[in-house]
Amino acid sequence: MNKNTTYIVMIIVAFFASCSKSDPAPTPLPPVDPCLGVTITPVAGITHTITGQTIGTITATSPIGSGYLYSIGGAAFQPSTNFFNLAAGDYTLTVKNANNCSGSKPITIIGYGPKYFSVKTIINGYCGPCHLNGTTSGGKSLQTDNDVISSWDRIKIRAVDGNPSFMPQAGQLTATDKQKIVDWVNAGHRITD
Ligand code: HEC
Repeated sequence: MNKNTTYIVMIIVAFFASCSKSDPAPTPLPPVDPCLGVTITPVAGITHTITGQTIGTITATSPIGSGYLYSIGGAAFQPSTNFFNLAAGDYTLTVKNANNCSGSKPITIIGYGPKYFSVKTIINGYCGPCHLNGTTSGGKSLQTDNDVISSWDRIKIRAVDGNPSFMPQAGQLTATDKQKIVDWVNAGHRITD
C-alpha cells in the first residue's frame, strides 16, 4: 500500500467506526425566534400642544394593518393608531405585530405658547403645499418651528399686510386669523408666546 492508499483506508475505517457507535438522542433544536429578521420601525405624525393643555396627538402611519398593536408607554396596547389628549412631554411609540415582535420610537410633544400655537395652526392649514413638506415656494419653507420663528416678519408682511401681494395667493386669511398673527408678533414672536 502506498501512503495515499493508507490514508484513504484509515479514513474509511474511522468513518465506519464512528457510524457503528449508537448516536445519542438528538437534542431538540431551539424554537425559531419569530422576530428573527423582522424589523419594525414606527413612523408617526405628531401635533403638539399648548403648554399646560392636553391637546397633543400621535398618529402611527407605519407600520399599519391587521395584527399590529400600538402603545405610547405603560403596558396598554391598542389596535387604534391614534393617541389623543396628550400633554407636552416625551413618549415612546411602540408597535408590535401578531407575533409580539416590536419596534419603538421616541416622540416629543412640544408645549407651545398659545399665540404661537394659533399661528402654527394657521400655517399648517393655509400655507401648504407651497411652503410645507419640502416645498419651498419663493425659497421659503414654513415647515419647522425654526422656519416659522425666523420668518415671523415675512409671515406678517405677506399674510397680514399683503405687501407686495397677499399670501396665500388664492385668498386672504380671515380678519380673525390675521389678528392671531399680529398678536403673536406683538407678544414677541417666540415659540413660548
Ligand atoms: C398656492 C401656493 C402658496 C400658498 C398656499 C402660500 N404661498 Fe407663500 N409663496 C408662494 C409663492 C409662489 C411665493 C414666491 C412668489 C412671491 O413671493 O410672491 C411665495 C413666497 C412666500 C414668502 C417668501 C417671500 C417673502 O416675501 O418673504 C413668504 C414669507 C410666504 N410666501 C408666506 C406665506 C404664508 C405665511 C402663507 C400662508 C398663510 C403662504 N405663503 C401661502 C406660494 C404660496
